[in-house]
Amino acid sequence: MTRRAQVVAVGTALPERRLTNADLEKMVDTNDEWIVSRTGIRERRVVEPGTPLSALAAPAAEECLRKAGVSAADIDGIICATITGDHVMPATANLVQDRIGATKAWAYDIANACNGFVAALATASAFVSSGGADRILVIGGDVMSSVVDYTDRNTCILFGDGAGAVLVEAGEGDNGIRGFKLGSDGSFGKLLSIPCSGSAMRPSDEAVAAGAHFLKQEGREVFQHAVRRMSQVATQLLEKLNLKADAIDLLVPHQANRRIIEPTARRLGLPMDKVVINIANVANTTGGTIPLALASAEADGRLTTGTRVMLVAFGGGFAWGACYLTWGRG
Ligand code: COA
Repeated sequence: MTRRAQVVAVGTALPERRLTNADLEKMVDTNDEWIVSRTGIRERRVVEPGTPLSALAAPAAEECLRKAGVSAADIDGIICATITGDHVMPATANLVQDRIGATKAWAYDIANACNGFVAALATASAFVSSGGADRILVIGGDVMSSVVDYTDRNTCILFGDGAGAVLVEAGEGDNGIRGFKLGSDGSFGKLLSIPCSGSAMRPSDEAVAAGAHFLKQEGREVFQHAVRRMSQVATQLLEKLNLKADAIDLLVPHQANRRIIEPTARRLGLPMDKVVINIANVANTTGGTIPLALASAEADGRLTTGTRVMLVAFGGGFAWGACYLTWGRG
């Protein structure tokens, strides 16, 4: 029997508060028609200012464990993919570990921006398939409202807050993670960055006054790279696994822009009814997009035990990745 890393359940948490396009019209020079036609986004959820990521990550983890029928005390490890954790130290995964009572679990964060969830899943998969752990919670989430400049119409329309978690568990059936492909090109780091967020720039009054603690991006260039890399990495993974696109029941892409997702699907030769798009209501939650999209596909009946799923993401770094898996236990 082959020991596999199976993805057996997903849980999510979204803030109550909705920030609609109509709300943004009152804050910056934009309009609903522009935002919907250029991005597909109608509203995003945002936390009350000061609410940390762990306030979303912990309930998402708890919902995931409840659905999996697994106790927090039986978890071996927690990995949280985020760029807006509660603090740089302690890691948000540590705070979740305490909050949910995962007393024997190690815990750490992974910072890989919009590719963070795929990167964290790859790490968990390596642990579980090699016998290094039996159950790992993989959380992806961000409080993007804490790094978004709500006077900058180029960025503030795109992002929202939210978190999701999956349980990666050892199993010996046919289902499970079949492969990954990850990539990066750090030469493009400056095109999508938060300049004042680490040792390169200290949070001086000048830095904050200049808005250097907010997310900056060259939207058009990021857009072009995203379309190319997402379709390329998914194609490369199919080739590596010796599969064709018809082996994909469901494409679950990072939700950055509907106009990035549609050409990605087209280039893979997938009809849109095989693609999960939930960006209209939640926008880009960075580390949270893929687990939130998995949960929405489960809710509409498209994700069930045995569904063959391709996850694909692209984001700051630049960093990108794809994962092919068959959902559930068994
Ligand atoms: N409302 C109205 N007009 C806006 C606007 C807004 N919110 N934001 C930008 N515009 C304007 C621009 O100023 C520009 O005006 P100009 O032609 O007079 O200069 C015009 O709309 C077109 O801007 P452009 O940047 O070419 O639009 P776009 O079609 O590329 O869409 C993004 C902009 C940001 C939505 C798009 O580039 C994108 O999604 N990029 C990827 C971003 C991303 O995913 N980042 C996260 C990491 S994965």
